Amino acid sequence: MAGGGLGLRGAHRPVALLLVLVAAAAGAAAGKGKGAHAGTSRLRFRRESGTFKVVQVADMHYADGRATGCEDVLPSQVAGCSDLNTTAFLYRVFRAEDPDLVVFTGDNIYGADSTDAAKSMDAAIAPAIDMKLPWAAVIGNHDQEGTLSREGVMRHLVGMKNSLSGLNPEGVEIDGYGNYNLEVSGVEGTSLAEKSVLNLYFLDSGDYSTVPSIKGYGWIKASQQVWFQQTSSSLQRKYMNENPKQKEPAPGLVFFHIPLPEFSSFTAVNFHRSKTGEGY
Ligand SMILES: *[C@@H]1O[C@H](CO)[C@@H](O)[C@H](O)[C@H]1NC(C)=O
Repeated sequence: MAGGGLGLRGAHRPVALLLVLVAAAAGAAAGKGKGAHAGTSRLRFRRESGTFKVVQVADMHYADGRATGCEDVLPSQVAGCSDLNTTAFLYRVFRAEDPDLVVFTGDNIYGADSTDAAKSMDAAIAPAIDMKLPWAAVIGNHDQEGTLSREGVMRHLVGMKNSLSGLNPEGVEIDGYGNYNLEVSGVEGTSLAEKSVLNLYFLDSGDYSTVPSIKGYGWIKASQQVWFQQTSSSLQRKYMNENPKQKEPAPGLVFFHIPLPEFSSFTAVNFHRSKTGEGY
């Protein structure tokens, strides 16, 4: 949990751990039965609840376990607080939420504080593997600052147990490491069991700008946007043209580390119309 930032351009404030729960429910996918856990070959909506729950874990900033202290805790909490608290927290959340998928969205490790990047990553992801949860990851701006390159970190993530992470699509010129997508099928035994009713995309949003006139974090490149658009429209066509044909495209979610520039203009004014009518 040491140092670093969420990756918000212009606001490099350390954020210890961001956790978002995404529960997507597709009406057509509702029914009865067990959820998609490791061991079953594909991700799919649950029968009883008709839901597919994703726990997103960002910015663990994991390093050397017990030897790495906590940031952003009260002065009274510093003593005895380490990466092991992050591990304990993940176990508590996973037990409470029983997710169908865990997505680690970067700065999973804090490379600069880590003695051995592979070892730090193994420890960071361990609760998901130990609990046999399907999981996927993208990298942030700090993962490669240790003993592994960006490519090395991503290759390690892809090779870990129960990992659904991918490298880049085959035969495509694309920026970054770890641009891939996952399909989530409808409930077993229903007409949508063989279709992707939720499309998940994972993008490498880079680390830092390499353009001298632009300071700060990296961004998603045009090559990645093209791949995303092509993959998305092909999945949408399939969903609407193949039997049972659907009227609307399936929903999609994209996971990446560095927020879009628009995120920094998303403030309280986005929630309230100001007296002058400005603020949109
Ligand atoms: C970290 O974990 C230790 C051991 O369980 C516990 O005593 C301590 O209160 C935790 N610290 C925080 C900030 O949660």
